[in-house]
Amino acid sequence: MVDLKQPLTIGNVTLQSRVFQSPLSGVTDMVFRRFVRRFAPRSMMYTEMVNATGLHYVKELPQIMEVDREQETPISIQLFDCRPQFLAEAAQKAVAEGADTVDINMGCPVNKITKNGGGSSLLRQPQLAQEIVRSVVEAVPVPVTVKTRIGWCEQEINILEFARRMEDAGAKMITVHGRTRAQGYNGPAKWEWIRRVKEILTIPVIANGDIFSVDAAVECLKQTGADGVMCSRGTMGYPFLVGEVDHFLRTGERLPAPTALERLQIAREHLQDLYDYKGISGLRQARKHLTWYAKGFAGAALLRDQLCRIETLQEGLDLLDRAMADL
Ligand SMILES: Cc1cc2nc3c(=O)[nH]c(=O)nc-3n(C[C@H](O)[C@H](O)[C@H](O)COP(=O)(O)O)c2cc1C
Repeated sequence: MVDLKQPLTIGNVTLQSRVFQSPLSGVTDMVFRRFVRRFAPRSMMYTEMVNATGLHYVKELPQIMEVDREQETPISIQLFDCRPQFLAEAAQKAVAEGADTVDINMGCPVNKITKNGGGSSLLRQPQLAQEIVRSVVEAVPVPVTVKTRIGWCEQEINILEFARRMEDAGAKMITVHGRTRAQGYNGPAKWEWIRRVKEILTIPVIANGDIFSVDAAVECLKQTGADGVMCSRGTMGYPFLVGEVDHFLRTGERLPAPTALERLQIAREHLQDLYDYKGISGLRQARKHLTWYAKGFAGAALLRDQLCRIETLQEGLDLLDRAMADL
């Protein structure tokens, strides 16, 4: 039985929290992570996935790989690709940037990624996946971890053999999203497969999929016996979730849910910070975040409709200020 109050050891890194914020492409940039960390200071966070081949051909690191060395720890930089050498090289850059661990994406279902041999298509190339892990492990002094799914499709659920191979190759932790590639993000996550992975591995196993609340996290940990849990879509517009789960696991107490006002205050800060960090593209990205925040109060639907079309920072700030005054 895992003692969820104890720190979690991943190779030579010790984590004080067993609750993780997942990597989310287009979402978990430095600005978003800062909000999650405000409420979950001990939790491991991930960058958005970074293309290792792309990195090979550029001099400057892409902004999605940027880490705030002073503030951000523990932090993992996630890479994707299928070329062991490029991944090893990219992992070295990740470590130089400040990554506490390097995570390899073997779960992304998106065609653009899988048709180039990355993401979940590695589930169908277990030997190559192993070679990748070995070559990255050799290249960097920090723990190498893997995030994957239970299989390519219902007929090809191979996570048990695959996870064992990852451990044999030197991975220090595996996160299992309990869906197949074919499922995308639909249908319930099959946590029973995560339990089976946990039963056969010695490295930590982190459960992922459908953790939208403290109750879901507790239930998932109970059903899977996993070493920790990773929150994902449940954090979009709700950067409180990782902290809420962490608090409950440590104390057995539930934090009060944030009020609509608190959520909108965070939304306002998020908008301002994204704009400061990325300029006009940050403003465009902020639209979706703002619509995720604006939920659960009278007038929220209309506000969402307006927020998803903002053209200037001031317009967004004014809408939010008015909504807060009207609460
Ligand atoms: C918009 C979006 C972007 C994602 N980007 C990544 C990514 O960059 N790397 C990754 O490993 N998984 C990514 N995922 C998958 C999530 O990390 C997670 O495994 C999945 O959403 C399952 O958890 P959930 O059911 O709690 O959402 C992404 C998912 C979504 C919805």
